[in-house]
Amino acid sequence: MKKLFFLLLIASSYISAQNPLAIPSTLTGTNISLTLQEGTTVFHAGITTNTMGANGDLLGPTLILDKGDFVSFSVNNQLNDTTTMHWHGMHVSPENDGGPHTKISPGSIWSPQFSILDKAGTFWYHPHLHHYTDKHVSKGVAGMILVRDNEEAALNLPLRYGVDEFPIIMQTKGFDAAGQIEIHTEMDTSVLVNGSINPTVNFPAQVVRLRVLNASSQRVMVFGFTGNKPFSLIGTDGGLLSAPINLTRYRMAPGQRADILIDLSSNLGQNFQLLSYGSELPNGMYGATQPGIQSFQIIPGYTNNPLNGNDFQLLDINVVAQTTSPILTIPTTLANFTPINENTASLTRDIAFSTAPTAVDFTGPFLINNTNFDINIINDTVQYGATEIWRVTNNTGMAHPFHIHDVQFFILSFNGVAPPPELRGYHDVVLVPGGFSEVRFIAKFEDFASDTVPYMYHCHMLTHEDHGMMGQFIVDGIVNVPEASAELKEIIIAPNPTKGEINISKLKNIKTIKINAIDGKLVKEIAVNNRLTLKVNMPSNKGIYFLEIINNSGVKYTRKIIHY
Ligand code: C2O
Ligand code: CU
Ligand code: CU
Repeated sequence: MKKLFFLLLIASSYISAQNPLAIPSTLTGTNISLTLQEGTTVFHAGITTNTMGANGDLLGPTLILDKGDFVSFSVNNQLNDTTTMHWHGMHVSPENDGGPHTKISPGSIWSPQFSILDKAGTFWYHPHLHHYTDKHVSKGVAGMILVRDNEEAALNLPLRYGVDEFPIIMQTKGFDAAGQIEIHTEMDTSVLVNGSINPTVNFPAQVVRLRVLNASSQRVMVFGFTGNKPFSLIGTDGGLLSAPINLTRYRMAPGQRADILIDLSSNLGQNFQLLSYGSELPNGMYGATQPGIQSFQIIPGYTNNPLNGNDFQLLDINVVAQTTSPILTIPTTLANFTPINENTASLTRDIAFSTAPTAVDFTGPFLINNTNFDINIINDTVQYGATEIWRVTNNTGMAHPFHIHDVQFFILSFNGVAPPPELRGYHDVVLVPGGFSEVRFIAKFEDFASDTVPYMYHCHMLTHEDHGMMGQFIVDGIVNVPEASAELKEIIIAPNPTKGEINISKLKNIKTIKINAIDGKLVKEIAVNNRLTLKVNMPSNKGIYFLEIINNSGVKYTRKIIHY
């Protein structure tokens, strides 16, 4: 009976009537309110499925934020579960990052405030409570974040959300016999875009921009159009590329984003499809014919999932009349960026994936550096301001998407070979192939430090993450020799965040205090001359500052101050 029902569900997702593609609404400005709620959605005719959403029954609004704005968020948890809210890919302090430590219990509100420091790019938000990330994301709590900036505005790019710019949130989900969403499943047989099953959309006959996110729990997607219609990749996870790259396929692991332009100006009246070309995935990636690179590396039931090893449709597209003032050309150059130079790294940090000795089949658990995630253990400490190379080695037989919080990184090499052009931009997720493959990337850990709240790194296959394929690191805010650190750490700065004035007390042997802007520029210098307390007016521009406290022996200590 259960099997038959599955077949019916699978069949219905293939032959059911087309649905118009849902386009999430938007929230803009500097006050963003999200209410996480339980709801219901009809995915399959006649079946009511329990879902979760932000400000609705399923998924959440697209947040359109401007770089440089200081934004106040309110995340109201009306779910029956404790959860968290993480701003995936965004450069925020660990306290504002919404990792597993920053819990929001049912009925309570979390109100982080932060400056948008990222460049124009495609980010997303989703819960991150340990063991529950898959449940909350699969049931529907996820949304897109678009950051806009002046550099992007000066380019002739489509910026009219829902008109010439469309979010494409790709997901596969599994449904049980009762039509409810399954968690930690390998039977993710239903394909959804923006929560719509079998969706169809009208795009105008001009340059159209797609902000693509693979929000699937496990599945790697191979983005491409029927007829091998070419497209231009203009941005990756955390920002625009320096120039568009023409492609017919773009492989996207869970958590990854792509900013894509398609020129439809000569396609009026035509119909074509967006597919995931699963048949082109090499064995050893979730979604290929075999999940492991070796045929004995088996996930039970995996081969019964008709999506595995096959091409399947994501979206049906009809090309309709142009809008007013259409964009008809694709820019030849995009953003200015300089990848971090490999020579500036102070160290190489090793991360290794392995299969837990207790794993009975290839569903895991998988480990990082031979340990399972423990929320009470800090696995790594990174010095504030350091540039590091991370070398991730995958000693398992399947590919895992490695994701790190806090930073955007640049990929240096795959097994010693420089990455292809489409992987040379900003990334916060990289798919590390199985079979002892190694990926090296470089990142700078700047702007934020905390002695108490860590950032996460983990596999973005949510089943693996929930089962402990995750680690955490502290960015240590103490600059220079830590001998006098105890004394320096006792200094009290309040209030922080502040509306303008701060009181600094418990100063001992302090010579100078410098206030640096987020870009490192010195804004204010105060001679302390061994005074014990101090009242300081913050510079009038609101935002994030770093207070550099320097004692009589030249030892420095940096604290972040938020002026809102
Ligand atoms: Cu998208 Cu740590 O997550
Ligand atoms: Cu993240
Ligand atoms: Cu994994």
